[in-house]
Amino acid sequence: MRRYGLSLFAVVTAVFLSVPLLASEPVSLSPKEQLGKILFFDTNLSSPEGQSCAGCHGAEVGFTGPDEEVNKGEAVHEGATKGRFGNRKPPAASYAGDSPVLHFDKEEKVWVGGMFWDGRATGKTLSDPLAEQAQGPFLNPLEQNVPDTKTLCTKIKQSSYASLFEEVWGKGSLDCGDRVLATYDRVARSIAAYERSREVNPFTSKFDFWMRKKAKLSKEEMAGLALFEGKGKCAECHPSKPGPKGTSPVFTDFTYDNLGIPKNPDNLFYGMAAKWNPQGTAFVDTGLGGYLKGAGYKETVYKAEMGKFKVPTLRNVDKRPSPGFVKSFGHNGTFKSLKEIVHFYNARDVFPKCEGMSGPKPGENCWPAPEVSSNVNREELGNLGLSEAEENAIVAFLKALNDGYNPEK
Ligand code: HEC
Ligand code: HEC
Repeated sequence: MRRYGLSLFAVVTAVFLSVPLLASEPVSLSPKEQLGKILFFDTNLSSPEGQSCAGCHGAEVGFTGPDEEVNKGEAVHEGATKGRFGNRKPPAASYAGDSPVLHFDKEEKVWVGGMFWDGRATGKTLSDPLAEQAQGPFLNPLEQNVPDTKTLCTKIKQSSYASLFEEVWGKGSLDCGDRVLATYDRVARSIAAYERSREVNPFTSKFDFWMRKKAKLSKEEMAGLALFEGKGKCAECHPSKPGPKGTSPVFTDFTYDNLGIPKNPDNLFYGMAAKWNPQGTAFVDTGLGGYLKGAGYKETVYKAEMGKFKVPTLRNVDKRPSPGFVKSFGHNGTFKSLKEIVHFYNARDVFPKCEGMSGPKPGENCWPAPEVSSNVNREELGNLGLSEAEENAIVAFLKALNDGYNPEK
């Protein structure tokens, strides 16, 4: 359908195939990346204290939701304040730095870029979506819940790393007075620097070693890759080839699609007070279209984007602290295994809707209705005709995208 090439930031963050990197090699961070790392892991920067970015983006799960009990059900991670939940599953905070400023690509006729599932951290203010995103969670009452930028700034000023901040940004840069907003921009840019660092984007999966001819993919993984790029059509949205300048693929083209994923009935956002969720159980997540509508775009613009979500990276999609650990997939985390979501891609349009059916067995004889039934992509998925073994091969290939592969073992 479309393929989106290299973006603005690719030049800065891309890792070139020729660069040898071993999983065991220690990564050294620049002072700015180091500052960003401390900010990312500082549990003091919430109200009440106790929640950092890493609380919802754990390295051990590929910088996504680290709480297994949460992943098994609601998939939305609780904020710093007990009982407060957002409406979506945390996507990976890694391999996101190449997403360009949100824009409409007139040639391909698709929206591209921005941060969050719906692109609302557009990047237009800071010319960097990743930095702009980092300004969201601290002040979000459903997340870290810090009352204002001054409070956040003061916490940093009183921290042990205040001197590192001034070392990175200059004397007087940690201004919590009149110029607190400029300080907040520096906080965000430091975090973005860490999120773009080699530590967060190591490109050390078995697939990476295979691309550099330093490891072999198994027969099943090779079959999975061929299906990923061929019959399964996955690479049409999750590109798997090096960029034109030889950069490693991040398995997203940063465009938006409605896959027809059903609601996650366990999403605790449905039960949130009207102040946060006026629609209650009737809440429907309209993704990019909802954002564009709220931002004042015309109906002729937003209508075609209702129900579309940003294509996520597939790097580390299977990364887990232990083999049986449950992760969730999709913007609302309704899928609980890779096999399930691959089966959905394969057979979404093969069965009728479960609603009103006697003895419904999702994935076997029916599927729950899509969360948003307009704009569902029926060209690239839904009835792929994959056999069970082919589905399994795709899953095997996805598992080869986990960082930390050791080619010497
Ligand atoms: C309470 C859980 C929670 C906390 C705390 C949290 N996040 Fe997130 N994060 C999420 C969720 C949920 C989303 C998706 C929200 C959406 O799309 O509306 C998200 C989205 C993101 C994304 C977007 C990735 C993409 O590809 O679009 C990045 C990057 C990110 N978070 C980084 C951070 C940083 C940096 C912090 C700390 C300043 C942080 N998060 C704190 C839950 C959290
Ligand atoms: C038409 C574009 C498109 C195609 C083709 C496509 N995907 Fe996706 N993929 C997406 C989008 C968009 C999402 C997020 C959708 C949502 O959450 O509503 C997604 C989500 C996923 C997720 C969940 C990741 C996460 O972090 O939650 C996995 C896994 C995945 N895709 C794998 C695949 C595989 C395997 C194939 C081929 C069988 C494939 N995709 C084909 C666009 C596509």
